[in-house]
Amino acid sequence: MITPLIAANWKLHKLPSEGVAWLETLLRELPSKAHEHVQILLNVPATHLAPMARLARGTPVALGGQDLSAHNEGAYTGEVSGAMLGDAGASFVIVGHSERRTLHGESDELVNRKLKAARRNDLVPILCVGESEAERDAGEEALAVVLEQLRTGLRGLCVSESSALVIAYEPVWAIGTGRTATADDAQSMAATIRSELRTLYPAVADSIRLLYGGSMKPANAAELLSRADVNGGLIGGASLELDSLLAIVEAAG
Ligand code: PGA
Repeated sequence: MITPLIAANWKLHKLPSEGVAWLETLLRELPSKAHEHVQILLNVPATHLAPMARLARGTPVALGGQDLSAHNEGAYTGEVSGAMLGDAGASFVIVGHSERRTLHGESDELVNRKLKAARRNDLVPILCVGESEAERDAGEEALAVVLEQLRTGLRGLCVSESSALVIAYEPVWAIGTGRTATADDAQSMAATIRSELRTLYPAVADSIRLLYGGSMKPANAAELLSRADVNGGLIGGASLELDSLLAIVEAAG
């Protein structure tokens, strides 16, 4: 039995002080037994990590970063390392989000180096993969794109425990658009990802968590999460509102 992971992705939203106040309310309103059935993760801007992680210590809520440098340290102005994220209280980090790939030109090779940097620093990477609308319209191409992102992204990455890696399938055309993949489509791509993971990591593939992301919200979460290989969600817009995140947590429980 895989414990579902409900992961918020706040992107470039909220101030650190607002994040702290938001988390205080979340911790008050979280049903007391929710964490027995669901793991809750907030991927917040790097500036929010330390104050929010202090508040979350000893609670069922984990904190994560949204990106990290492929480097440990050096002359890389503006970068944040895995060690810095960990020291600030992150235990997870999103890697290869489509916004990083398209707006910042991140290649599968860079994503691979970032995944390794995350593991070197004991962070659990959430590797994002997903096809664009044009690739989806070209039929089989969506599969090929996702498999290539997985294979190159994970090349040489050692994963001996299922808890050390999370994969998020996020079709680019569904991110922030209000359009969602059908539960059948999400399951079908997740099953393909699972089968590739069985080749790469046979001992642990069956319990690696696979998330769906792309306009997940209270109205569609239960349906998406009912599928065998959809073990949670990576949620942008709907994670900014406390009530909608709580409703998704409830749908997952
Ligand atoms: P969305 O974002 O839920 O707003 O579509 C998801 C994501 O970008 O991870």
